[in-house]
Amino acid sequence: MSENSNQETARLFFALWPDGKARGVLDQAAAKIHRHCGGRRTRPETIHLTLAFLGDVPASRLDELRQAVADIALPAFGVALDRVGWWRHNRIVWAGGGNVPQPLADLVGQLRERLKNGGFGFDSKPFVPHISLLRKAHCPDSEFPPLAAEWQVREFVLVRSVTSAAGAAYEIVGRWALQR
Ligand code: 2AM
Repeated sequence: MSENSNQETARLFFALWPDGKARGVLDQAAAKIHRHCGGRRTRPETIHLTLAFLGDVPASRLDELRQAVADIALPAFGVALDRVGWWRHNRIVWAGGGNVPQPLADLVGQLRERLKNGGFGFDSKPFVPHISLLRKAHCPDSEFPPLAAEWQVREFVLVRSVTSAAGAAYEIVGRWALQR
């Protein structure tokens, strides 16, 4: 055992992983917008919607974290993303939707509650559901192609992000089903 193994941390977040079809639609939209705005495209296999971002958590608390959310019992629901936008402040091109569907708000609400009760820190800014498609982008205007990406949310996942020179690699370290 190495001297600092007890200080090992994992960079973690909870997310929704769209199905293959929705990821395809989002990736095609990203390819089109990329011609216009430049930047770095999200790799299609890593396209996700973050529910709660924890940041660095001691790796030794991973099991406790899994336990904290294990009894979330919510129904499956549909998500439809029909808007694209560009945030100038962080240069992200994103896909989103007009309103937050109530089941999505409920899921985020329950996750936040469990995290708070379990003493896990997380980014507590108001939840703005979005999928980042391009980073370091610069869009000369706000003309974006129409978007229609939808999928049925049947589970949520816990993701570990490992950053290296090659970029961020994501590993799914927990998975919980929603009720059908
Ligand atoms: P973003 O796509 O808008 O950058 C992994 O970093 C995921 O967590 C990304 O989807 C990222 O959102 C999201 N995230 C949310 N809050 C974050 C924060 N404070 N720092 C880094 N990533 C955050």
